[in-house]
Amino acid sequence: MFDILTLNKIAACGLSRLDPALFRSGDAFDAPDGVIVRSADMKEMELPASLKAIARAGAGTNNIPVDACAEKGIVVFNTPGANANAVKELTICALFLASRKIVAGSKWTETLKGEGDEVGKKVEKGKSQFVGPEIAGKTLAVIGLGAIGVKVANAALGLGMKIVGYDPFISEAAKASLDASVAVETDLRAVLAAADYITIHCPSTPDTKGMINADSLAGCKDGVRIVNLARGDLVVSGDLIAAVDSGKVGAYVTDFPTDGMLCRDGITALPHLGASTPESEDNCAVMAADEISDYLVNGNIRNSVNFPAVFAERSGAQRVCVLSEGDVSGEVASILPGAKITSAARKRAYLVADLADAADAEAIAKIEALGGVYAVRVI
Ligand code: MLT
Repeated sequence: MFDILTLNKIAACGLSRLDPALFRSGDAFDAPDGVIVRSADMKEMELPASLKAIARAGAGTNNIPVDACAEKGIVVFNTPGANANAVKELTICALFLASRKIVAGSKWTETLKGEGDEVGKKVEKGKSQFVGPEIAGKTLAVIGLGAIGVKVANAALGLGMKIVGYDPFISEAAKASLDASVAVETDLRAVLAAADYITIHCPSTPDTKGMINADSLAGCKDGVRIVNLARGDLVVSGDLIAAVDSGKVGAYVTDFPTDGMLCRDGITALPHLGASTPESEDNCAVMAADEISDYLVNGNIRNSVNFPAVFAERSGAQRVCVLSEGDVSGEVASILPGAKITSAARKRAYLVADLADAADAEAIAKIEALGGVYAVRVI
């Protein structure tokens, strides 16, 4: 039996995918085999020795100590694409919020409460304060062309925007889904300089943190409008606020506000709502449950952020799963002659070895003793 600890409310349609003959799930296990998490911060959490896998029901994994987990032999999964439509829809909304003074206009309209028959006249008279441009015909820079960025680019194209995309690591799958007319550039400064609107859709990593700062903003068009529904620390808050105050940035819409951004003209602050739709919560829960279940039961890895993907139909009596720093498939092949090995190595390595007979304890001990091996499981 595998125990799955849920650290946030996870949609029932996801948990119901865990076979009850093999899994228990709940919020109170001391020695769980797996964790499914949404936004709970696991960075300071003591990770139980029993833990083998964490599935984040969402794309970003910056609430999980991904590298420390790898070294403890814990596979971390995310659910790329599962909430992409929800985030795309909020991004398109944010582009309009950045343009049309909708929030300010709504707040002002509410001040007319109690004006009775005058309301109609006053809204007509006052509306000129809230004029804002159309997005059609303007250039949108999409920074990050993963599942979300591609959907945003295609949708904004359909609204008549010109798109310039930036992603030095764009995947073949993303390229295939992206409208062929979208230019994908690798020079961030050139992309920012071309844009009337910028929307950010990349993860927060040491390379991307603070990418929007005084220096990069200086190269943008005056009055550029920026949407950030990705992560707060992609933007240097003080630099952004100064640019809004000076008019360099015409509008900033984010669902990762800092205190200094609140109640400030030119900034629309929202709660982190990108993925808050029932559809995306269901999609993420289903994908997270499927990933963690296939790993714990079969040793297959799909959509891990700290180990490479390995998928193989089970063949043989037992499967030996080896998580390691470097590729040990040659050594394992000589320890387990005749095993059918499927392996992959990128920053770290993973292999599954299918055995015709039950695994031999001595052989497993030899694999565990190989240099750079983080964990070995026999299933
Ligand atoms: C994500 O990382 O998938 C989105 O920011 C939404 C979320 O965190 O729930």
